[in-house]
Amino acid sequence: MCGIVGYVGSKQAAPLLMEGLRRESYRGYDSSGIAVLGSAPVSFRSVGKLEELELKLKGQVVEGGLGIGHSRWATHGQVTEENAHPQTDCANNIFVVHNGIIENFGVIKKKLEERGHQFRSETDTEVLPHLIEHFFEGNLEEAVKKALSVVRGSYAIAVFAVKDPGKIVAARLSSPLVISLNDTGGFVASDPAALIAHSRKMVFLEDGEVAVIEPDTFHVSDLNNQVKKKVATELDWSVEEAQKGGYEHFMLKEIMEQPEAVANALRGRLLVQEGRAKLGGLERVEKELRAIGRLNIIACGSSYYAGLAGEYMLEEYAGIPTDTDLGSEFRYRKAIVDKNSASIFISQSGETADTLAALKEVKEKGGLTLGIINQVGSSLAREMTAGVYNHAGPEIGVASTKATSTQLAVLALFTLFLGRQRGMSLTMGKRIAEELQKLPALIQQTLEQAPHIQRMAEKYATAANFLYIGRKYSFPIALEGALKLKETSYVHAEGYGAGEMKHGPLALIDSSFPTFAVVPTDSVYEKTVSNIQEVKARRGPVIAVATEGNEAIQELADDVMYIPKTLEMLTPILALIPVQLFAYYMSVLKGNNPDTPRNLAKSVTVE
Ligand code: G6P
Repeated sequence: MCGIVGYVGSKQAAPLLMEGLRRESYRGYDSSGIAVLGSAPVSFRSVGKLEELELKLKGQVVEGGLGIGHSRWATHGQVTEENAHPQTDCANNIFVVHNGIIENFGVIKKKLEERGHQFRSETDTEVLPHLIEHFFEGNLEEAVKKALSVVRGSYAIAVFAVKDPGKIVAARLSSPLVISLNDTGGFVASDPAALIAHSRKMVFLEDGEVAVIEPDTFHVSDLNNQVKKKVATELDWSVEEAQKGGYEHFMLKEIMEQPEAVANALRGRLLVQEGRAKLGGLERVEKELRAIGRLNIIACGSSYYAGLAGEYMLEEYAGIPTDTDLGSEFRYRKAIVDKNSASIFISQSGETADTLAALKEVKEKGGLTLGIINQVGSSLAREMTAGVYNHAGPEIGVASTKATSTQLAVLALFTLFLGRQRGMSLTMGKRIAEELQKLPALIQQTLEQAPHIQRMAEKYATAANFLYIGRKYSFPIALEGALKLKETSYVHAEGYGAGEMKHGPLALIDSSFPTFAVVPTDSVYEKTVSNIQEVKARRGPVIAVATEGNEAIQELADDVMYIPKTLEMLTPILALIPVQLFAYYMSVLKGNNPDTPRNLAKSVTVE
């Protein structure tokens, strides 16, 4: 999500840190900062672009060969200078930059405050320097290890201490970190893109590892002081390739990141034994939510399709009547906002003009507004009464991918949260929580089919039209599949409810018109199979997305892409993967750049 960079060596650290942050800036950020240790520590932080930080550094003496830098993409706390990193302890001895989330920061902060620690920011990160200060007895590595044994959550950190100079201590858990050395010193970063200009040899840290980096050496061990042998990987990437994590396009990188993105969206939010979802962002409206009798979901583009699947989840499992609206329709259709209802706004960017206008309309009419937003501190996030962030990390490809899957995961969490407030049994709650927990691994399993899906794209590359069909939870995926194909490959595609075939689309079918049927083994399986038969009877080629173990579908469909079995309401999250990959490969085959489709923008801030 955010960017970390650190340097210790014979050169001046400040320019190297700024360069590293610039190379990581493609990931998106909203504030930044560096701390450098020369004869005394200096720290500069600023809101906005890196140029703002550069302005602050201008004319200042920032000398020293040890430093850490950070570009922050806000998660806990607003976008302010106080919340930017590096964060420090009370004595200005410990300087920390951190990516990730410290889940138990509330409890730790309370205990530290009772012991007299003074906190200056709203961040979860700030507990780290204070906790390290609490354990510090002159040896930074030891203090960091003790502190990390107390925290829960995910982290990549780089730390230095004024009273134990000449080294950076770095550690990771569920958030990437890489080390490299050259003849001037040692580097650490969250992204190889920040370091590749200095050395091609990278040492990737694994979860639970702590590294001590010095100018000409480093050593790695775990929290129990077991020494870890590390082997360097030589990367032959260009800087641009490194920013894409070695993938050809951001879209593919972001598709492949979905196991981690969904894990981040779920992290700390599932109480499996209690069969409940813990959504901190909804706690202050918990009482109002108990009383509401209706929900309205409002969004645009792929977020709208995620909303449609959410509607089905919320009605089936939470028992709340739900409607889904396009932002652009809602704002003009004189909708009635019932005091007994709440509206859920879904948006990756949090800046979509139509969704924002719809929010203002609901607020004016006195409705309760909730959000599922990826971009922290965005306009929608600020205007909302309460909400839950996706934590998908920055999405750079214009066509939404990991934002959509995390929106679906958060909608499932909403369903669990609201369902357990109502009639949902403990057994059902546990079942949903358990299945949600398995999702990242199941998404990973689905992604392994990428080479097969690429071959399918090659096979169907000359088709001029596609129909995408599905029922119930697969209906929104049919709509999303058609949208993905249109926007990235410029091939005409339409999404339809499979039951609607005979009301029109069937007239289009012939042997040159392929149909993509999303047909997992669920409560409407047989109904969709009948619709596939209607297509086959007109000699239309069929590509089916089906559940693993369903061999029978091979008799009917021309080609099959499999997804693992999961709870019916979670199938859309898995079925998304094949339609995303198919669109991606089709786009590349057509010679397009899937990251920047013609005529489209990532953030649609105009009507
Ligand atoms: C644009 C993007 C889509 C996105 C839609 C809604 O059209 O290209 O990928 O789904 O906006 O954006 P939002 O940021 O509100 O989710």
